[in-house]
Amino acid sequence: MKTQKFTSKSPEETINFGEQLAKSFKGGDIVCFFGDLGSGKTTFIKGIAQGLRIRQTKVNSPTFVLMNVYHGRLTLFHFDLYRLDDIEGIRSIGYDEFIYDDGVSVIEWADRLGVYLPDEYLRIDLKHKKNDQRVIQLSAKGSRYQKMIKKVLLVNG
Ligand SMILES: Nc1ncnc2c1ncn2[C@@H]1O[C@H](COP(=O)(O)OP(=O)(O)OP(=O)(O)O)[C@@H](O)[C@H]1O
Ligand SMILES: [Mg+2]
Repeated sequence: MKTQKFTSKSPEETINFGEQLAKSFKGGDIVCFFGDLGSGKTTFIKGIAQGLRIRQTKVNSPTFVLMNVYHGRLTLFHFDLYRLDDIEGIRSIGYDEFIYDDGVSVIEWADRLGVYLPDEYLRIDLKHKKNDQRVIQLSAKGSRYQKMIKKVLLVNG
């Protein structure tokens, strides 16, 4: 099983989903987010932060920086590449070292990574439907993430 789709009906549901998912994270996990402005990437990541016992109030989109670091059960590296205008810029902040560290990396606007997209990662696509509805699709890129998707299905399916 490589892909799972869910529908969220509220920001709270998306947060809760992220929170549950984060419980199965291990050090070194990488999650790449794809989806338009306002589709719910940061909202989902707030849930992940909660699930890692990071105080949720601290988590927001990095505004002028490309990455924020939060400490919880695992260290969370939160990248937001929206304002990245030169892909080489992510190398200068030490991207390679962070994503292969033993923390968890979550990356908004991962499509900007181009050739720097890792070989294996959990892919999350968010799509804006009417009003407060969002379709959340999880895809495993690499065997490491297939187990995670199965577990999520057991909890939410
Ligand atoms: N079901 C839902 N799941 C997530 N967010 C929702 C949902 N319904 C409504 N929203 C609202 O949509 C907005 C999502 O904003 P959020 O910052 O999470 O998006 P984003 O994908 O990170 O955007 P950006 O590309 O600007 O970083 C929030 O205002 C949130 O309250
Ligand atoms: Mg965001």
